[in-house]
Amino acid sequence: MAVIAIYSVKGGVGKTTLAANLAWCSATISCRRTLLWDLDAAGGAGFLLGIEPHARRSAGAVIAKATDPARLIRKTGFANLDLLPTDESIRAIEAQLTTLGKRKRIAKLAAQLGKDYERIVIDCPPVLGETSAQVMRAADVVIVPLPPSPLSARAFDLVAREVKANADPHPPILPVLSMLDLRRSLHKAARDANPDWPVIPYSSAAEQCAVQRQPVGAFAPGTPAAQAFARLWTAIERKLAKR
Ligand SMILES: Nc1ncnc2c1ncn2[C@@H]1O[C@H](COP(=O)(O)OP(=O)(O)OP(=O)(O)O)[C@@H](O)[C@H]1O
Ligand SMILES: [Mg+2]
Repeated sequence: MAVIAIYSVKGGVGKTTLAANLAWCSATISCRRTLLWDLDAAGGAGFLLGIEPHARRSAGAVIAKATDPARLIRKTGFANLDLLPTDESIRAIEAQLTTLGKRKRIAKLAAQLGKDYERIVIDCPPVLGETSAQVMRAADVVIVPLPPSPLSARAFDLVAREVKANADPHPPILPVLSMLDLRRSLHKAARDANPDWPVIPYSSAAEQCAVQRQPVGAFAPGTPAAQAFARLWTAIERKLAKR
């Protein structure tokens, strides 16, 4: 089992889009039993997989160990791919986790879920705190989407420092230039400054995920965006194989 965390302290950088698409790649390309675990109250990950939210508010209770996660897990319309959804109750877990003093609660839940899943992809909220610190302790690899800018490397260093401060030993951290538009000179400069970083192009197919409510690979296979998500997934699997 491996936990893949999609994390950044910045909002709107493509975390949820990346999480839903990578989870789909894991389930469909690698044929792995995959769980997409949404820890952001905004609930975008489930939305992108076409799942309607439940009225029940139990996501926080799962973290508090008051509810069995199996009771919440939903099947998606895609083979091998399930969702552990979020809801408003998850907003309270930050305080709960701090009060409980159980530094490995999310890691232990992930280990429990690992009995049924080979890959767990976590969509994190853009927040620095106890929840993200716990996710770093649970993760086997951390994917950090970065907007292409002259500050990308600096932004990556900040997140990497955060991961290292919260997990010992810390998991490998993989920067990804997200929403790259090579027609823009600053994007091109960011790409040239970091030629080894994987790239997700700015594309209407990726944007359309929120309209189609499907991952790109499902409704627009063969597009550059679908290929980029698949390439990134392969790079992640390669990293995991080195563990
Ligand atoms: N590769 C891409 N090309 C074009 N648009 C994209 C791409 N990736 C994401 N987007 C769009 O950018 C917006 C933000 O993406 P997303 O919700 O995935 O970011 P996020 O980091 O999860 O945001 P938040 O921090 O609010 O949770 C969305 O409108 C999404 O459709
Ligand atoms: Mg998000």
